[in-house]
Amino acid sequence: MSELNTIALSHDFLSRYAKESAVCIDATAGRGYDTEFLCSKVGETGKVYAFDIQKEAIESTEKRLSEKGYKNAEVILASHSDMDKYVKEKVDCIVFNLGWLPKGDHNIHTEAESSIEAIEKGLSLLKNGGGMNIAIYYGRETGFEEKDRVLKHLKTIDSLKYTVIVSEFTNRTNCYPISVFIMKD
Ligand SMILES: C[S@@+](CC[C@H](N)C(=O)[O-])C[C@H]1O[C@@H](n2cnc3c(N)ncnc32)[C@H](O)[C@@H]1O
Repeated sequence: MSELNTIALSHDFLSRYAKESAVCIDATAGRGYDTEFLCSKVGETGKVYAFDIQKEAIESTEKRLSEKGYKNAEVILASHSDMDKYVKEKVDCIVFNLGWLPKGDHNIHTEAESSIEAIEKGLSLLKNGGGMNIAIYYGRETGFEEKDRVLKHLKTIDSLKYTVIVSEFTNRTNCYPISVFIMKD
């Protein structure tokens, strides 16, 4: 199987926007892999806001960043649907990984309603020329419902302002995650 996967696609896309001094949002910090990636790209003069609703995820992300010596992130214990209360500047890129905390409690996961609200707030915060990546992890009942509702919502995004691409690894099994790429014109 090719080494191309959801994370490789995501990081390749985010690299187009997360340049030196860029401002980024990780809307689902989890274990902090994407936050770390963004911090490595934007450098000391850039900034990464990372959100998660679980204390365990926040601590995990902070530990990862501190071990790597990154000081350019603000890790926030709050829902991404409240991102506009914390982020008061326009941003270059935003990443979402919808689903549950890896090696965490599978009963706590992103939900369609707050994810859609957060996607809309994220789109408003994006600079013109900025990009958003959403990796939709699913495979449980709630994951299916969220996937369907998010995909339906994506079709309603204004095509005059945004380009929205939904991509699937169509011959991979076991509910392989769906990758979404949104570019603000
Ligand atoms: C698939 S994981 C993210 C993985 C992460 N990108 C990483 O590098 O480890 C999804 C995360 O979203 C978090 N989450 C669930 N609902 C949320 C919400 N409303 N706002 C922010 N984070 C949320 C979960 O707690 C979980 O940690």
